[in-house]
Amino acid sequence: MAGPLAGKRIVLGVCGSIAAYKAADLASRLVREGARVDALLTRSATNFVAPLTFRSLTNRPVPVDMFALDSETAEEHVALARAADAVVIAPATATMLGRIVLGLAEDMVSLTAIASTAPLLVAPAMDAQMWAHPAVAANVATLRSRGVTFAGPEEGRLASGHSGLGRMAEPATIVQALKAMLGRAGGDLAGRRIVVTAGGTREPVDPVRYISNHSSGKMGYAIAEAARDRGADVTLVTSVKTMAEPYGTLRVDVSTAQEMLEATRAACQGADAVIMAAAVADFRPAGPAEHKIKKRDVGGSYSIAMEETPNILKELASLPVVRIGFAAESRDLLANAREKLLARGLPLIAANDVTAEGSGFGSDTNAVTFLYADGRVEPLPLLPKYEVAGELLNRLLPLLREAR
Ligand code: PMT
Repeated sequence: MAGPLAGKRIVLGVCGSIAAYKAADLASRLVREGARVDALLTRSATNFVAPLTFRSLTNRPVPVDMFALDSETAEEHVALARAADAVVIAPATATMLGRIVLGLAEDMVSLTAIASTAPLLVAPAMDAQMWAHPAVAANVATLRSRGVTFAGPEEGRLASGHSGLGRMAEPATIVQALKAMLGRAGGDLAGRRIVVTAGGTREPVDPVRYISNHSSGKMGYAIAEAARDRGADVTLVTSVKTMAEPYGTLRVDVSTAQEMLEATRAACQGADAVIMAAAVADFRPAGPAEHKIKKRDVGGSYSIAMEETPNILKELASLPVVRIGFAAESRDLLANAREKLLARGLPLIAANDVTAEGSGFGSDTNAVTFLYADGRVEPLPLLPKYEVAGELLNRLLPLLREAR
């Protein structure tokens, strides 16, 4: 399955800033995502990077002078603006922000931004004092109020040698911000609020030890990212400490099943759906020790009394949200998954054979079988987790429509 930028027409405006060299990386990333990229440079940008760089990366002409286009039609100077699915300006200088606010079409970049009705993303780059200047701050506020999306700027080392807020966001971040913006602008989950859980819960034995499982969180994170790409407002309730949340999603950190229950219940207020990809412990130590258990105190072995954790899917049953479960099984996959589907009253469960090659815990791929409340069974082939997420969201859509 193609990613959300495949086939999209992206206009990339590049302004005169030392960060312009990073725009080449951005252009390359967008091309690799399958987008058709038209780079436009201001005259100042050409002091830092050459049009040929972008022409080589995008395989497209790179207009700089708006009076010297290879014009085939009278409307050539606004043709790119009309055709664009999104306009991205990276780096965006203080001058460029001012031009767009005032509607001054003084170069190919400002002209295209002003002539286009496509969503606009800007990634500012300037000195921290310029960014903090009241004139720039007022322009930023105006642009935000007009619906312009900002990526960055970020804190860090600036061209002046000082550190501060003004560095252009990293190209990878800008790509994520672009996906999120396009999702909000036209995705089939735009306006929906979706809660996703990820990772294995950790149930403490004593202050230094816990019981957990092999869940890496990759499946849940892939669902969060795919839902964001389709415009959903995503809350990710996660026990994973080592992975950054997908850009634009709201992350809530938890550790135990009890914490996951409380955070998920809170996140579900006003939400449309909850997707439980987390591997929640079914049992926890009944009374975790207050201090580290020492070998000398327990002898050669010791037992841990376990008690059941609350079942999150069950606890959420009274809320008006569509609940989707996963079932991680090592045998009798379909029978066990159906039992869970029925016991929790779910419309859909993704059954996961965690012993199959490339499937389940830790892998970048997964093979799931969808089981529906009406008895249908739908196996999917082994797919990247992002694609499994897309398939799951395709099946969530009609359930959301039925629920409202
Ligand atoms: O994280 P990865 O490394 O990418 O691996 C992905 C995965 C294998 C963890 C994922 O695809 C998956 O199968 N998640 C569900 C794991 C699980 O806990 O399955 P289960 O059969 O034990 O639970 C059934 C459902 O009940 C699950 O949706 C689970 O989140 C939920 N549950 C379980 C226990 C509990 N106390 N409360 C719950 O809500």
